[in-house]
Amino acid sequence: MDRKKIDTYAKAWVKEAGERLKKSFSEELTIETKSNRNDLVTNLDKEIELFFRHKIAETFSDHKVVGEEAMEANYSNVSGVVWIIDPIDGTMNFVHQQRNFAISIGIYEDGVGQIGLIYDVIHDELYHAIKGEGAFMNEQRLPMLEEVEVSDMILSINATWIGENNRIDPSILTPLVRDVRGTRSYGSAAIELAYVAAGRTDAYMTMRLAPWDFAGGVVLLQEVGGEVTTMDNQPLDFVNGSSLFASKPGLHKQINETYLGK
Ligand code: IPD
Ligand code: CA
Ligand code: CA
Ligand code: CA
Repeated sequence: MDRKKIDTYAKAWVKEAGERLKKSFSEELTIETKSNRNDLVTNLDKEIELFFRHKIAETFSDHKVVGEEAMEANYSNVSGVVWIIDPIDGTMNFVHQQRNFAISIGIYEDGVGQIGLIYDVIHDELYHAIKGEGAFMNEQRLPMLEEVEVSDMILSINATWIGENNRIDPSILTPLVRDVRGTRSYGSAAIELAYVAAGRTDAYMTMRLAPWDFAGGVVLLQEVGGEVTTMDNQPLDFVNGSSLFASKPGLHKQINETYLGK
């Protein structure tokens, strides 16, 4: 695949989609719910996904697209070039705050991440990486991540997982949350992954994500030496989605051994 050419098109489309999202703030949104009353989707989520689908079909007719709003969670064939797209990651923020949402794209060839793009529209921060060529925030190269102690770290985690829930025993997370310097939650998995890659936070943990939430971020993290697995220290599941634990190098092992019992 011609990675440079694909990257150039992808960046231009992401910027164009970002402009459309900003413009939409002066329009009335159509908001619907999906699996429950807090699982929101707007006409813009759908419109932006369709925008990418049309552009990709027109320009790269042999590429496949997997996107959240087409509900293709069960795609099983990762062969060829696949664009894994989240048109708006952080829809709740988009609706309630008009900030802290992102467009996330991971472009994979035969299951291997080649290009990652996360666009934080309101901050105009485009995080991007091509496998083997480093990661960038706009034109600025992101440095390789360095090791950090738990007592000095900022952990990105959603408070849902520290309370009563059916995916992890909160007593496993409580000691970690107590020992870290601070916790943060931005409400967009893509932004939380970009922030780990940019060194703004030191780790991100979550119990349930879909492939389009992490496909772009994983490519970024690999380029700066970040470590990413499931919470069980297994490879991520790019077909069904999985839990996720991303961190600076070294920290991953330290947290696994001391807190997660892995
Ligand atoms: C959600 C966001 C959120 C995460 C959820 C995702 P969406 O994506 O990334 O931060 O906690 O698990 O579903 O639905 O806004 O694209
Ligand atoms: Ca959603
Ligand atoms: Ca998402
Ligand atoms: Ca989404």
